[in-house]
Amino acid sequence: SKCKAFRASILHLLGDPENDLDSEKIEYWEDGLLLIVEGYVKSVGPAEVLLKTLPEGCEVIEYPNQLIIPGMIDTHVHYPQIDMIAAYGEQLLTWLESYTFPTEKQFSDKAHAADVAQFFLSELLRNGTTTALVFGTVHPESVDAFFEEAERLDLRMIAGKVLMDRNCPEYLQDTPEQGYEDSKTLIEKWHGKGRLSYAVTPRFAPTSTPEQLAKAGQLLSEYPDVYMHTHVAENKDEVAWVESLFPESRSYLDVYQQHELLRPRSVLAHCLHLDDDDKKCMSDTGSAAAFCPSSNLFLGSGLFDVADFKEKGVRIGMGSDVGAGTSFNMLRNSSDAYKVTQLSGGKLSAFQALYLATLSGAKALYLDDKIGNFEQGKEADFVVLNYDSTPLIKRRLKAATTLHDKLFALMMLGDDRSISATYIKGEQAKF
Ligand code: GUN
Ligand code: FE
Repeated sequence: SKCKAFRASILHLLGDPENDLDSEKIEYWEDGLLLIVEGYVKSVGPAEVLLKTLPEGCEVIEYPNQLIIPGMIDTHVHYPQIDMIAAYGEQLLTWLESYTFPTEKQFSDKAHAADVAQFFLSELLRNGTTTALVFGTVHPESVDAFFEEAERLDLRMIAGKVLMDRNCPEYLQDTPEQGYEDSKTLIEKWHGKGRLSYAVTPRFAPTSTPEQLAKAGQLLSEYPDVYMHTHVAENKDEVAWVESLFPESRSYLDVYQQHELLRPRSVLAHCLHLDDDDKKCMSDTGSAAAFCPSSNLFLGSGLFDVADFKEKGVRIGMGSDVGAGTSFNMLRNSSDAYKVTQLSGGKLSAFQALYLATLSGAKALYLDDKIGNFEQGKEADFVVLNYDSTPLIKRRLKAATTLHDKLFALMMLGDDRSISATYIKGEQAKF
């Protein structure tokens, strides 16, 4: 049996640490050991103790002055939007028309999709993200290309074909029936294969007819453990548009509820302009919100209130939302999350940001039995963070006195240079 032990500083969370810097949910070893057998976590703890009981022949890999954390989880991202990331000057609806739709058109070409999927996944790994919930395009080929590459790399990934049958260019439209059939074929082909799962993916309420949303609901009832992935209440003009398209619905979120799209494993990006009843509905149905701070700032969409969603019992993950977000990196996104929280008068500790990017994301995806921390039996996807990746960070961290101070500065200042290695089921990923 293949045994590997990683010696470094090790940090993971056993639950929500809130903003308590001394929470008992925080487990940290300055000189720690992470023991992995056959790609799964066997144990984690102080090196001093664990080294004494190391199985015969177990390889020890040392990362001095580096920090091992669980692989990070991106709960909302668009792989086809790589070639339009950082597109100038628009808010959501005009941004979609001007940049997004023309870019997504190219994914009818499977070879193009495969090329972008390969780049995208290596970019995720280079940034320390090991699991993501991913939008494809309307083209089924886009999802085949994505899953083929994710399977080759043995990654835990969730993706789906976009459903959209109105209010977008004709070249990107499916129909309720075709979207249903194509999704079904993809579910049968990919869902549950290795570490892959399928997400039924209506883009957002404005681009689907009620007939299509009903078909999406039918798919969910036929496949109880697939995901549902969409956007909600990102932008005020979008909210007003949905009100005019669906006058019988109480709210934007209620459009999804009425079509039976809200349940455990439903993930809704943004959730910026929801009222208390909506938040209660999210909580009651076991749906999750993807907090996308970089995107929300870039498109000028609004400020997500983490504390309010938590208080109301809503599951929350962090999402890069690339191409509207401008970084895949969860340290960069944590930095934006902190600033967003500052603007709404709250607080977001480094431990809370780490929680959002790891265990809370795993809970949002109902995968906390498999990933999110280093509890025994979990899949050994993890990241090695370099404390000294730039002169400024190196200098600042020398002046840091506590773990929180160090981690917080690393989050505010770090980027892809801070990720020295990413491991997938105990094997170092190439990127
Ligand atoms: N709403 C509908 N489609 C999109 C998209 O591609 N990106 C973002 N950020 N919001 C959306
Ligand atoms: Fe998005």
